[in-house]
Amino acid sequence: MTDNKNQGDRMSELFSELNTLAENNPALISQAMDRLKSVHRANVFVSNYCNSDIERDNFVTQAVDNPLWKYFQNHHEGKGIWKWEHYFEIYHRHLSKFIGKELNVLEIGVYSGGSLDMWHSYFGPQSHVHGVDIEEACKTYENDHTTIHIGDQSDRKFWRTYNQESHGVDALIDDGGHTHEQQCITLEEMLPRLNPGGVYICEDVTGYPNQFSIFASSLIEHLNRSEWIVEETLQSKNTVFQSAIHSIHFYPFMVIIEKQSSPLTHLAAPKKGAEWQPFFD
Ligand SMILES: C[S@@+](CC[C@H](N)C(=O)[O-])C[C@H]1O[C@@H](n2cnc3c(N)ncnc32)[C@H](O)[C@@H]1O
Repeated sequence: MTDNKNQGDRMSELFSELNTLAENNPALISQAMDRLKSVHRANVFVSNYCNSDIERDNFVTQAVDNPLWKYFQNHHEGKGIWKWEHYFEIYHRHLSKFIGKELNVLEIGVYSGGSLDMWHSYFGPQSHVHGVDIEEACKTYENDHTTIHIGDQSDRKFWRTYNQESHGVDALIDDGGHTHEQQCITLEEMLPRLNPGGVYICEDVTGYPNQFSIFASSLIEHLNRSEWIVEETLQSKNTVFQSAIHSIHFYPFMVIIEKQSSPLTHLAAPKKGAEWQPFFD
């Protein structure tokens, strides 16, 4: 009875919010309805997928072999590291390009300090690791290749000060408080500040529905925008977002965004060759 009442209250609140939104922004409601249809379609697809036998024979244990994984597996003493096992293949896939380079790594969420040492060992002596944590106690992990910044990742003022004082970030790992609000604010403040070629990782994006996941997947729509400047040869004017953002990747519990190493100047699909089928112009 109480649950039904709460659900009823929540629905009334939602309808009233929708009304206000519809009055102020009818286009947004139409986008949301289109999205809802696709969300429903995806739910049906995944439900059928999970109930089918199609993948049964493909389930094999993944062999994960990379330096980060070895470091983690062999780490039995000293400062603690706490990571999901399946992250290691993904880290290596997106971060190996930085090994041996001079770079600034920023991890939000220091906890017991072990992951900061892991990053330095993986990237090499040229790397500098920055740790951000809300807990003052984490300051103890500072050394010549590690700087600790004490602050709250959901405080936009903290990030503005951080950016004024920092020399840019090449790889960012958000393993902090894990609420969607903290994750969204950190992305909003820090993704634009990531260096060209930078890699942004947000960890522990769990649960369904997850507001951060919805936020990040909505960014994908902006990678697909097209505004034709020469329709015949498929040339589209790119937005600043498309110029700066290379790709957005989703993994279990993890979202990764890669920035372009140099700005994308245009989007075009010219035809090459001289012989063409007549059925398609
Ligand atoms: C899961 S632990 C980090 C684990 C660590 N990165 C590792 O791999 O071992 C999360 C950390 O985030 C910190 N934290 C929680 N809320 C935060 C916030 N709002 N801003 C910054 N750090 C926060 C906690 O104090 C804690 O040390």
